[in-house]
Amino acid sequence: MTRWVLIGITALGLSGLLATVTLDPSEMGAAAATDSIERGRYLAKIGGCNDCHTPNYLEKAGNVPEDRWLIGDSLGFNGPWGTTYPTNLRQLLRTMSEDEWVKSARTIETRPPMPWFNLRAMTEADLRAIHRYVLSLPADDTPVPDYVPPGRPPKTPHIVFVPQAPKP
Ligand code: HEC
Repeated sequence: MTRWVLIGITALGLSGLLATVTLDPSEMGAAAATDSIERGRYLAKIGGCNDCHTPNYLEKAGNVPEDRWLIGDSLGFNGPWGTTYPTNLRQLLRTMSEDEWVKSARTIETRPPMPWFNLRAMTEADLRAIHRYVLSLPADDTPVPDYVPPGRPPKTPHIVFVPQAPKP
């Protein structure tokens, strides 16, 4: 009885070993790439990128179809720095290789309210995942208005981002 159980276990172990050996390495690579893209999607979602770089994401509580994600926004942010517009990341990231993106994210510094310091703090694997994810989305060249320097009125809807003192 015990012997049969042992033989059974050994057979199971062997078939497990065979299954491991016969896994196609290119399939394993593809699985890792898919994981990385999924991670990038997750980071775009929870890392705040969609909040600003996807039109209406905040207003719709994240209920925006993925084909609109990260195409930039023409709703400006106005403050002492002028008026800034969230960049079309699908367009921008396509102009850079993954290595170039990692390099630029390591030294990035933009005007507000982009939290550039958060990008700098990301691990290399996370930055690569973001690049892979953004490039897995279809190309999209929706234009975003140009930056407007301080003192000039923006010509688009914008959020005024200036701290207000409470009324006495
Ligand atoms: C609070 C809003 C906000 C959030 C959150 C945000 N961004 Fe931005 N981002 C902006 C704005 C606005 C700009 C344009 C800044 C400027 O013009 O200087 C910008 C610029 C950038 C740039 C520079 C583009 C260039 O032209 O060089 C990159 C890259 C970028 N964002 C990536 C991201 C990623 C990735 C995330 C998520 C981890 C993210 N942003 C989160 C608002 C935001």
